[in-house]
Amino acid sequence: MAKCMFVVFSLSSGSLCHGACVEVDSDTDAVVNEGFKLGCISCKRRGEVPAEATVEWSFMPKGESEFTKIYSYEDLTSDISDERFYERLDWNGSKKTKDLQEGSIYIRNVTWNDTGTYRCIFNRTLIFTSFKFHNDTTKIVHLNVVPRLTRGIASILSEVMMYVTIIGLQVWLVVEMIYCYRKISVQGEEALRESAAEYLAIASESKENCAMVVVTE
Ligand SMILES: *[C@@H]1O[C@H](CO)[C@@H](O)[C@H](O)[C@H]1NC(C)=O
Ligand SMILES: *[C@@H]1O[C@H](CO)[C@@H](O)[C@H](O)[C@H]1NC(C)=O
Ligand SMILES: *[C@@H]1O[C@H](CO)[C@@H](O)[C@H](O)[C@H]1NC(C)=O
Ligand SMILES: *[C@@H]1O[C@H](CO)[C@@H](O)[C@H](O)[C@H]1NC(C)=O
Ligand SMILES: *[C@@H]1O[C@H](CO)[C@@H](O)[C@H](O)[C@H]1NC(C)=O
Repeated sequence: MAKCMFVVFSLSSGSLCHGACVEVDSDTDAVVNEGFKLGCISCKRRGEVPAEATVEWSFMPKGESEFTKIYSYEDLTSDISDERFYERLDWNGSKKTKDLQEGSIYIRNVTWNDTGTYRCIFNRTLIFTSFKFHNDTTKIVHLNVVPRLTRGIASILSEVMMYVTIIGLQVWLVVEMIYCYRKISVQGEEALRESAAEYLAIASESKENCAMVVVTE
């Protein structure tokens, strides 16, 4: 899913692509043996100022207390610096530019050992005419490896409740319709035995009482 939405403004001189960047938090549940995108987005606040950025990812396995550098992206080149991740990390960030706004990476074949904390450091340099300005931004992702994606119990319960409610309402509607039908026909028979004028009056009254049910059908 694209985390950045791009709005294209057409100008008379040609076209200019203006990125509207949205910082979205990374997902945190990875399924074992599948791929997972570790999200890291840092929007450039000063859109008009040219900039360059580098991204560095570090990993602290669950139960340990230190980060180890695992990946860096600089000058359109990536470098995996930890053997636990050799051949398993792909760049999922901004493409074909040094002016990065997204620094996400993709882990292939997630293992249980990938559980832990990931740190993404954006090191951005804003290039003004007379000077350069550095700004570091750090994002933390706590990754949880799961056997398969489980849905929250609340979500399952509310779906069950929805079906129970729908079925309950339908049953109630049918019961009510049968009841009204019987009432009308019984009253109709009685009325037949009496006078035709009375029958009409009662039947229309009964139908009125049941009008609501007929409408909700
Ligand atoms: C991220 O990289 C993986 C592996 O290269 C690829 O399959 C996936 O489509 C990429 N996702 C995005 C959003 O670029
Ligand atoms: C993941 O690992 C399995 C076996 O361990 C292998 O068959 C599969 O090709 C691997 N997938 C990727 C994307 O590397
Ligand atoms: C996970 O870590 C344990 C202990 O460090 C190691 O023995 C095991 O081979 C690792 N598993 C994978 C899939 O890397
Ligand atoms: C960010 O990059 C600049 C120059 O590229 C460097 O001097 C600085 O130490 C870097 N900061 C971090 C936290 O890596
Ligand atoms: C650095 O960048 C972050 C995020 O883009 C921003 O919130 C922060 O204010 C910046 N720091 C400075 C000193 O400009």
